[in-house]
Amino acid sequence: SNGLRVFDPAFLNTAAISSKITFIDGDRGFLMHRGYPIEQLASKSDFLETAYLLIYGVLPDKKQDDTWRYEIMHHTALAEDVMKVISSMRYDSHPMSVFITAIAAMGAFAPEANPALQGRDLYTANADVMNKNIIRILGKAGTVAAASMRVRMNRPFIPPRSDYSYCENLLYMMDSHSEAEGYKPDQRLVKALDILFILHADHEMNCSTATMTHVGSSLVDPYSAIAAAAAALYGPLHGGANEAVIRMIERIGSVEAVPEFLEKVKRKEELLFGFGHRVYRNTDPRSKIIREVAEMVFEACGREPLIEVATALRDAALKDEFFVKRRLYPNVDFWSGLIYKAMGFPLDFFPILFAVPRVAGWLAHWKQLLDHGNGKIWRPRQIYVGEGLRDYVPIEKRE
Ligand code: SDX
Repeated sequence: SNGLRVFDPAFLNTAAISSKITFIDGDRGFLMHRGYPIEQLASKSDFLETAYLLIYGVLPDKKQDDTWRYEIMHHTALAEDVMKVISSMRYDSHPMSVFITAIAAMGAFAPEANPALQGRDLYTANADVMNKNIIRILGKAGTVAAASMRVRMNRPFIPPRSDYSYCENLLYMMDSHSEAEGYKPDQRLVKALDILFILHADHEMNCSTATMTHVGSSLVDPYSAIAAAAAALYGPLHGGANEAVIRMIERIGSVEAVPEFLEKVKRKEELLFGFGHRVYRNTDPRSKIIREVAEMVFEACGREPLIEVATALRDAALKDEFFVKRRLYPNVDFWSGLIYKAMGFPLDFFPILFAVPRVAGWLAHWKQLLDHGNGKIWRPRQIYVGEGLRDYVPIEKRE
């Protein structure tokens, strides 16, 4: 009305930035990290090696690999003051709230890692400071998840074990059986969790990674940026979807109730959690791999009864014009919750099992930004589509 050019809102969803870390082809359902297809990493690599690849851009040689694993697994313990913060949380606090609080507290208790105190070039001028804090944050992320589990169980914390692998140590610190001398987690579950962690480690410029990059571009400390990214992941449209999928399937309750539920989805009364993706328009390559991991876990833990309803729901949706027309397919969250449920994790712990591995991706994008972003703050422009210029009206003259 006042000469403003109004852009197609879809334009706002397509602004892009460059990155060397992850490539996704949404039409082909293709995902690679630093040139390596996700299928190869899931079958040949492990989580810590994939984390190194994401962050430093290459697969580590033997010496780099040994040093990386040693450093990470010797930086898994949480400081007493952080443990006190976690212990102060209610037993029924959502683990993602605990995670956000604990990571921010780690930053609050590390003045040496705070650019507000040490100067804005703290990380851009010193690779050692950056690498040391990358190791601390990744090493301790799993322990924060385990500590929140112990608060939930009202059981004492179990100290981490540096002689275990990353996922083995996580399961060990979380598992109630670990109080028994010499307990080792089931290696089938360790392997399953490690594959899941590879699949969740990074995914281009998703909502939480964009948050990490956006917040990190102000040159704040990485702990505050990770806490912000974790808050973005917490939402049910993003990493909270794996928990929402199970709550949805439990609400559906039976295979017979699937058609009625899908009718509600079509009437927009329900959302089909675990389906759809802003980028993938045919299939999410991770969901195929996760479906195979599910069988590994069901063999170790027993078949999760909800898998029948989930499979019926997936099959019905894939044949239904409403979903086919909108190119809606199972995403990474559709099956992962069933696995975590079969493994015995409480429902509200599922998103934190997404957040822990995604710390690797968040750190990779944060490092990339500081290495190549020449310290420029992210400041997107908007397209103003509000009221045109007008004069102030005193209250007595307003109708
Ligand atoms: C993750 O970005 C990433 O890479 C994320 C992630 C990662 O690894 O970081 O892959 C992880 O977050 C996976 C997504 C987990 N979220 C869910 O499963 C929640 C359910 N999914 C939807 O909320 C949705 O599909 C999104 C949020 C994932 C994507 O939303 P978009 O791209 O904004 O999709 P859209 O709203 O443009 O969809 C187009 C149409 C709309 O209908 P119409 O207006 O055309 O009638 O499809 C509908 C939407 O209403 N639609 C759905 C739907 N997803 C889209 N309808 C029902 N159920 C759904 N799940």
